[in-house]
Amino acid sequence: MILRKHFRTGLRRVGLLPGLASVLAVPALLLAGMAGSAVAETTVEKGAYLVRAGGCLACHTAKKDGVAYAGGHALKTPFGTFYSPNITPDPDHGIGRWSDDDFVRALHEGVAPDGGRYFPVFPYGSYTRMTRDDALAIKAFLFSLDPVAQPNREHDVSFPFSWRFMQRGWRTLFFDEGRFEPDPAQSAEWNRGAYLVDALTHCGECHTPRNVFGGLKRDQYMSGTVDGPENQSVPNITPHATGIGDWGRGDLVSLLKSGMKPDFDNVQGTMAEAIDDGLKYLTDADLQAIETYIYAIEPIENTIAK
Ligand code: HEC
Ligand code: HEC
Repeated sequence: MILRKHFRTGLRRVGLLPGLASVLAVPALLLAGMAGSAVAETTVEKGAYLVRAGGCLACHTAKKDGVAYAGGHALKTPFGTFYSPNITPDPDHGIGRWSDDDFVRALHEGVAPDGGRYFPVFPYGSYTRMTRDDALAIKAFLFSLDPVAQPNREHDVSFPFSWRFMQRGWRTLFFDEGRFEPDPAQSAEWNRGAYLVDALTHCGECHTPRNVFGGLKRDQYMSGTVDGPENQSVPNITPHATGIGDWGRGDLVSLLKSGMKPDFDNVQGTMAEAIDDGLKYLTDADLQAIETYIYAIEPIENTIAK
């Protein structure tokens, strides 16, 4: 609850977009001076939307009494427990001293300002697809929040995964850096859906099975796994009979909005969180685009026991 309250406070601070009409009414001279700040506010609003799509809040906020974006959220994996860092603009404990390039490099390359490699539990393998503009809008939103002086907690992971330099090997094998490339053979809606799914909402980080090193098995894209986050089974969401092949138009949109499946069951656990903390805030057009894209991916046979 606290988490959501803080998030809203954050949004309210950025929600004060000056009424466009009144901006337009001021004399040209004044307008020239104001244009910069009006543009900046819009960028912050855009960032507020994108952090929801990207699911940053859920992971960067501790579950119990956590302050939004101040980190400390425990992520249990087969390799140990990782604790998300503070990404508020606090200069000492957060990312307050980071430049635009520092931020973009973290999301696009998984590399810290000091050159350290991030563990892939931070899903930069998805965020690498994001446009630079979207990444910078997210940074603008985060920098509009109040700084929180909460120190980071050390990860509790076992050898050899705790060795950051090991990430170099992992990266060579499993990290495919690069921005999203629209497919001109597909519709604008499909391309928007592909971008949202692969660069932002990172559905595949949970719905695509992983190998023993934690790398995504790309040839089994979205086909589900029994080894999901928090030890939860993650269903096959490809359009196959063993997946969601029998779902109709609008069914996926309504799930992403309400958490309710066509059989009236509600999704639980990490999927419910992903919806509550972000997906349900997406526009109808964006949810529709996600549905269009997911319904058109390659059908894969894989029955996941619930
Ligand atoms: C699945 C959980 C998860 C999600 C989702 C996630 N992060 Fe993270 N993030 C982490 C973890 C864990 C780390 C620490 C990785 C490490 O120490 O190697 C991290 C690290 C970072 C860092 C580096 C901070 C530092 O002090 O070095 C930044 C910046 C960041 N995340 C921003 C974001 C943004 C922006 C989003 C949303 C677009 C996001 N994260 C979504 C888990 C997540
Ligand atoms: C943080 C992990 C995570 C992310 C991110 C995630 N999901 Fe899920 N999803 C799950 C889990 C776990 C379940 C199973 C929930 C349950 O058992 O109640 C699930 C269930 C579903 C279902 C229900 C399928 C069925 O047959 O019951 C659909 C559809 C779905 N997710 C689609 C998506 C889409 C589309 C995205 C991206 C926009 C997404 N998910 C992102 C973890 C995730």
